[in-house]
Amino acid sequence: MRNIVLTGFMGSGKSTVGRLLAERLGMRLVDTDEEVERMAGMSIPEIFERYGEKRFRELEHLAVRHISELEGAVIVTGGGVVLNPENLRLLRRRGVIFYLHAEPEVICRRLAGDTSRPLLRGGSLEERVRKLMSQRAERYADHDFMIDTSHLSPSRVAERVAEIYLSLID
Ligand code: S3P
Repeated sequence: MRNIVLTGFMGSGKSTVGRLLAERLGMRLVDTDEEVERMAGMSIPEIFERYGEKRFRELEHLAVRHISELEGAVIVTGGGVVLNPENLRLLRRRGVIFYLHAEPEVICRRLAGDTSRPLLRGGSLEERVRKLMSQRAERYADHDFMIDTSHLSPSRVAERVAEIYLSLID
């Protein structure tokens, strides 16, 4: 059974949708961020603080290499997984890539007050979100299916992903 891979910007709802999907389809749930934290034995903000983004990306790539070998899993990825095209190539070998899009205003609303994302710290949240999103737009375009989550509840998004996924394996 192929994996369901969820990509998308921070705050696009990947974790919540992933959990709902795993429950709904009875599939195992894995998360690249959690795997990185497990490997490093520390939280993501701590990794960034102590070793920087470059080291985080190396660990993230290792996590992807490991996780992409699974089968029949719902794989939630960190928002920057798409920055390394090799990550997507590996994940696609056994998985279908669903890109969860959300408009920048929606992302900002969802992430207001969040302190767990090092790349969004300091300065104006809106400026940071817009800049990173536009820098990454081409990377997120590398997907098999896109769902605009801006005006959908996580359970509606999960329903759509499940529908598409099940239609592929029928
Ligand atoms: C990042 C997204 C985060 C986490 C890290 C970097 C990014 O994951 O991997 O803070 O570069 O977009 P979420 O998308 O789950 O917030």
